[in-house]
Amino acid sequence: MVKRNPNIAKLPAGYLFPEIGRRWRALLERQPDAKIISLGIGNTTEPLTPHLVEGLRNAAQTLGTAEGYSGYDDDPKGQALLQNLKTKLSDKWYHGRVSPEEVFISDGAKCDCGRLQMLFGAEVTIAVQDPAYPVYVDGSVIAGATGAHDPERGQFDGLVYLPCTPANAFFPDLSALPRTDLIYFCSPNNPTGAVSTREQLRELVAFAKRNGSIIIFDAAYAAFIRDDSLPRSIFEIEGAREVALEVNSFSKPIGFTGVRLGWTAIPRELAFEGGAPVGKDWSRVMNTLFNGASNIAQYGALAALDDEGLAEMGETVGYYMENARIIKEGLTDLGLTTHGGVNSPYVWAEFPGRKSWDVFTEILEGAHVVTTPGSGFGPSGEGFIRFSAFGHRSDVEEAVRRLKESTKP
Ligand code: MLT
Repeated sequence: MVKRNPNIAKLPAGYLFPEIGRRWRALLERQPDAKIISLGIGNTTEPLTPHLVEGLRNAAQTLGTAEGYSGYDDDPKGQALLQNLKTKLSDKWYHGRVSPEEVFISDGAKCDCGRLQMLFGAEVTIAVQDPAYPVYVDGSVIAGATGAHDPERGQFDGLVYLPCTPANAFFPDLSALPRTDLIYFCSPNNPTGAVSTREQLRELVAFAKRNGSIIIFDAAYAAFIRDDSLPRSIFEIEGAREVALEVNSFSKPIGFTGVRLGWTAIPRELAFEGGAPVGKDWSRVMNTLFNGASNIAQYGALAALDDEGLAEMGETVGYYMENARIIKEGLTDLGLTTHGGVNSPYVWAEFPGRKSWDVFTEILEGAHVVTTPGSGFGPSGEGFIRFSAFGHRSDVEEAVRRLKESTKP
C-alpha cells in the first residue's frame, strides 16, 4: 500500500468552504423547501458587463480564424497576447510601478498561492495573519512547512500567528514578532475587511527589510478600496520592491471567478540569500507546472483594462459595496459590532463569547442564511462571523430582513 502524504494527514478538517457547503446541503435534506441565501463564500453573482462580454466574444471569434488562432503562449501570437496583457497591467493597474516583465499572468490568486508554496519549499519559516484566508495555512501545511498541529491552541507549531483583532485595529504588533522567512499579508483583508494604512504598510516593509523576510502580499480585493488615501498595492510603499511580491486577481472586481485570470508581480530586486532573483525561479516553477492562462480569459482581461472596462469594473465593485453597506447597516441595527465592509466586500461581525460555528448554525437554521464562521479562518476568528457582500441585491435585502426577523443572532 502507498503511504498517505503525512502533510495532508496533518490538516485538521476539510477545506472551510466545502464544509460549509456540506452543512448547507444537510439542512436542505431535512428541509427541501428552504430558500437558502448564501452570504458565505465570496462567489460573484452578477453577470459579466457588456465591454467584457464583447472582449470575450471577439476573443472566441479571433481564435476561430486561421490568422487569429493561438495555442500555448510560446507561439508568436500567444506571446503577443501575453505581452499586451502584461504591458496593460503595468500601465493601467500599477501605473508603471511594476514593469511588464515583472508581471506573471495566471489562472488566479489562490492557484498562485499554492504554487508559491512550491517555490519556497518546506524549509521556510512562515508568519500568517490570524485570521487569514485558509489557503496560506492549509497550503503551507500541504507543502510541509508548518510542523504539527496543536489541537489545544488550534495552531500549527511551526507557524507564527499574527493576531489581528479589534484590539489592535487588525494590524499585528510587529515588535513582538520573531523573524520568519515569509510573511503572508492580505489587504483589504479577507476575512476581517480591514485595510492597512500607508503608515502600517511602511512599518511592515521596514520590518521585512530589517529581517530579510519576503512579504507575500495578497491584493485580490484592492479594487474595492474607495478611500484614495489607502494603498491599493504594496508597491505604493517605498522599499517594497526589495521585500515583497504581490498576488492579485480579476475574480472579484470583474466577476472572473469562473473565467479565471490572476497574476503575481515579482520585482526584479526581490532576491534570495545569495542574490538569485525570486522572479527567475518563479518563472521556472510556472513554466513547469502551468501552461498559461486561458487565452480567452486574457482577452477578457485586456478588455477589462480598457477605459470602458475599468468604468464597468467600478460599477461592479459599487454594486457589491452597496450590498456591503446594506449588510453592515442591518447588522448594526441588530446591535452587533461590525468591521470592514467599507473598503472591502466582507463584513466581520462580533459575537463575543460565542462559538462561531454555533452562531453559523443558528443563522443557517433560523434565517436560512449561509455565512462563514470566523474560526474557520484561524483561532483569532473565534467569536466572529463573516458576511460576504457577493450576492444579488434582492437576496442581500431578503437575508438582512430574515436576520432581523429570526431570533436575534
Ligand atoms: C472567500 O474567502 O470566500 C474566498 O475569497 C473564496 C476564494 O476566492 O477562494
